[in-house]
Amino acid sequence: MTATAAEQRWPWWPLLPLYPYGRRRTLVRELIAERLWSFEQLQGVWYVAVPIRMTVLRVREGLLLYAPVAPTAEVLAQLHQLEEHHGPVCTIVLPTASGLEHKLPVPAMARAFPAAQVWVTPKQWSFPLSLPSAWLGFPPSRTRVLLTDGVPHGDQLDWLPLGPLDLGLGTFMEIACFDRASGSLLLTDALVAIPPEPPELFDLDPTPLLFHARERGDEPLVDDPALRRRGWRRLVLFANYLRPRPLEVPPLGEVLSHCLAPGCRRPRSHFGFYPFRWLPDWQADFEALVPDGRCSVQVAAVLERLVFPRQRNALVAWIRGLAGLRELRWLVPCHYEAPVACSPARLSALADRIEAGPWAQDQGPWLTLAGIDRTLVKLGVVPGEEADG
Ligand SMILES: [Fe+2]
Repeated sequence: MTATAAEQRWPWWPLLPLYPYGRRRTLVRELIAERLWSFEQLQGVWYVAVPIRMTVLRVREGLLLYAPVAPTAEVLAQLHQLEEHHGPVCTIVLPTASGLEHKLPVPAMARAFPAAQVWVTPKQWSFPLSLPSAWLGFPPSRTRVLLTDGVPHGDQLDWLPLGPLDLGLGTFMEIACFDRASGSLLLTDALVAIPPEPPELFDLDPTPLLFHARERGDEPLVDDPALRRRGWRRLVLFANYLRPRPLEVPPLGEVLSHCLAPGCRRPRSHFGFYPFRWLPDWQADFEALVPDGRCSVQVAAVLERLVFPRQRNALVAWIRGLAGLRELRWLVPCHYEAPVACSPARLSALADRIEAGPWAQDQGPWLTLAGIDRTLVKLGVVPGEEADG
């Protein structure tokens, strides 16, 4: 059944005005039969849109929602269907202290399931104003703080915190959730696995891929599998490095001369406004992120360079803790690929690589992120010293 635009409406989008704004299409997939489901929506800035995932886990008492997405009518209908077979939504978890994109849907999701218990990560913060958690919309009578007030379903699930890490502006913390029965580890932002091909979610709306597949603004948006793949790879570079290395900004006169070309006079193609020129070797940076075209677990690039540059030891310790989960079989992060086949040995190897390899580099694709980090340290916005020895 195809959902209508009304069923995909998300009225709270102005709180975080990200593409696709007021219309959120959702892809629902069963990741592990009768146990784990993924609800994916697209979200991003100026067509740099990557999937954001809510994971639904069946526990003995009903359903647990890990990192809610915008509860459109389409999402609620799908959840109600799951409830009919597997019991009520009993637990809603916000597993991050800082990830605004995961935080904003929580109050609306909590209102949609008034009997559910809400669990939030400690050290919630808001920017630019630091607001008390009731002001952030969490229902005070049924909201508890993870680890501080206990944990939900502790007889079935393990909860493994990364942090709190002091970022100066606020605190970084995310809490992984391990489902012993299925061997699935639910994660938020720190670890990802980037697929070489565009995720299935883009079948519902390939516009961001087709937008970035072009070489110039006066090319109309054309849909074919090769262009989708090219658009995906460029979009991944934007999402990981903010400003990809193999990209030039053409002179403004040239950019404007491509605007309003035939076939581009529509908002969908931003009226031909496309201030990018990709250099011939741009694919090399994607291949460095996704070596051998294989989806492998890695630390998210933006987090490595902006959040963890001086927190490598804390990150490694957390990953080693995750590697201690003997029944681990699957990773389910909130972004990119899921589920990702994994094992304790693979996570140990990742921790070894992080420890032994280069970290928080300044060169090549890292140039822009390194520049932002240096500026933040210089302004005293983030602490400059090694925080974890
Ligand atoms: Fe996130």
